[in-house]
Amino acid sequence: MKRTRWYKDAFIYQIYPRSFCDSNGDGIGDLRGIISKLDYLKELGVTAVWLSPCYKSPNDDNGYDISDYRDIMDEFGTLEDWEEMVEGMHKRGIKLIMDLVVNHTSDEHYWFQEARKSKDNPYRDYYIWSKGKGKNGKKPPNNWTSRFGGSAWEYCEETDEYYLHLFTKKQPDLNWKNPKVRQEVHDIVKYWLDKGCDGFRCDVITYIAKEDGLPDGRWNIALRGDEHFNNHPTIHSYLHALNKEVLSNYDCMTVGEGPGMNVENAIKYTSEENEELDTVFTFEHMNTDTYFQLIPRKFKLSRLKKVFAKYQHGLRNKGWNSLYFENHDQPRCLPRFVGDYGPYRKQAAKMLAVALYMQQGTPYIYQGQEIGMTNYPWKSLDEFQDVMVKYVMGVINKIAPFLKGYVFKVMKWRARDNARTPMQWNDEENAGFTTGKPWLPVNPNYKEINVADAMKDEDSIFHFYKKLIRFRLGNKIIIHGTFRQMYEKSNDIYCYERSYEGQRLMVICNFKNKEVGFKLPAEVVYDSAELVLHNYDYDRKLEDMKLRPYEAMVFLLK
Ligand code: GLC
Ligand code: CA
Repeated sequence: MKRTRWYKDAFIYQIYPRSFCDSNGDGIGDLRGIISKLDYLKELGVTAVWLSPCYKSPNDDNGYDISDYRDIMDEFGTLEDWEEMVEGMHKRGIKLIMDLVVNHTSDEHYWFQEARKSKDNPYRDYYIWSKGKGKNGKKPPNNWTSRFGGSAWEYCEETDEYYLHLFTKKQPDLNWKNPKVRQEVHDIVKYWLDKGCDGFRCDVITYIAKEDGLPDGRWNIALRGDEHFNNHPTIHSYLHALNKEVLSNYDCMTVGEGPGMNVENAIKYTSEENEELDTVFTFEHMNTDTYFQLIPRKFKLSRLKKVFAKYQHGLRNKGWNSLYFENHDQPRCLPRFVGDYGPYRKQAAKMLAVALYMQQGTPYIYQGQEIGMTNYPWKSLDEFQDVMVKYVMGVINKIAPFLKGYVFKVMKWRARDNARTPMQWNDEENAGFTTGKPWLPVNPNYKEINVADAMKDEDSIFHFYKKLIRFRLGNKIIIHGTFRQMYEKSNDIYCYERSYEGQRLMVICNFKNKEVGFKLPAEVVYDSAELVLHNYDYDRKLEDMKLRPYEAMVFLLK
């Protein structure tokens, strides 16, 4: 099978099915809801969809805890609906990327139900078990912590042993050292590819290989054990085998979620010779306004640019990155990276799109980003549904209850539920998401921010995304060109040049909500400069430069 590497020239749209569109009034998005919006995706112009998990699941972590990898969650529909959905996508030239969650299963998966019964159960070794420590064996086997807080071990009475869970206790980690587990994963991947899916987003894939002997992790305030399971050297042989035995037989793509990824690792995973993953999601740019992706710190443009440039240069001709500002785990990018935008919401949103998507890598839009959806105005901690908030609160209540107010402040801004409020389709009740009661409240700003209005307004963020996507697809300068940043130190302007076979794009973005002066660096010489993308409605010459608030433009230089 010839692999066309189509992901290098794709524009991918992420759907979080629970919050996208509800077709039957139970307040929960579903596959038939997605089917009803395929024309919308086609109109936007995206060429692939990454669908967050839609498999059978008790929904401890909204589908990231799978109890049957080969079937669809009841709330979302049936396998027949799935088939109709894929067919509808393919008919419109849209590919489908499924979420592959194989670091862990649900504790309600048959394998785990069996495994917990006895030490000699044939499925026992599908998971990671260990005896407790301390006098009566009542202490967890090591000090690793769940990524959501608290110990990563849960005691299991039946066999007097603990099992490992790097996320919630309803998400036991699979034991990848067991060849049977690896074979099961190969079979699952093959099953969906044969059914017509075009690739996988591999959930926390960098965690799958664990250090022998499960040693204690070095001290860390929250996340302990990382150095023993994140990017462990043995992972590369697992991924290579998956690639050789299954993936390479299809013209598909993979993108690996890589918390703690750096340039060096990203290259190992994605270099074409290594034959492991095709692309990765890196996280460093998400730390430009946080510490450890959690604790707020003031956003600094120069920090963001430094990370961008590091990956643009570092992965060039060596690997392949993804471009994203949002997903179901992140707060909305407005106002995250632009500050108080006042009356310039549209300009700010469009500017962020230019800044991000003119770079090299595979671009992703998260549902609602294309209309500039924003965080929800939370009023109290009880409003959050995300299991992560519950875990964090469990720890806080135990060790520092006085921090509750601060945690609320952090969560208001950081909680994953910010991205999970229902998609805002129109200004009718529940924003047209459901005729019932939505599982998570609709953002009250849906009267102003919704798809129907955005489609009518030629100047909307939606129409700008449409234009940008069409401009990007097939554009060799953006897909293959070199990257050169100018004014690296500036905290106002992001300016870079892309260049390919004598053609150049000059990208200029003002990240400030006020006018900022700009002078083209003297070394940039050209015969003609054509304005090809602009978020203000007037003509621009490259020479006269007082940038308006959040102004963004792209010139084609010859
Ligand atoms: C990934 C998912 C996140 C989930 C976690 C555990 O980070 O994106 O939503 O909670 O893995 O599966
Ligand atoms: Ca529904």
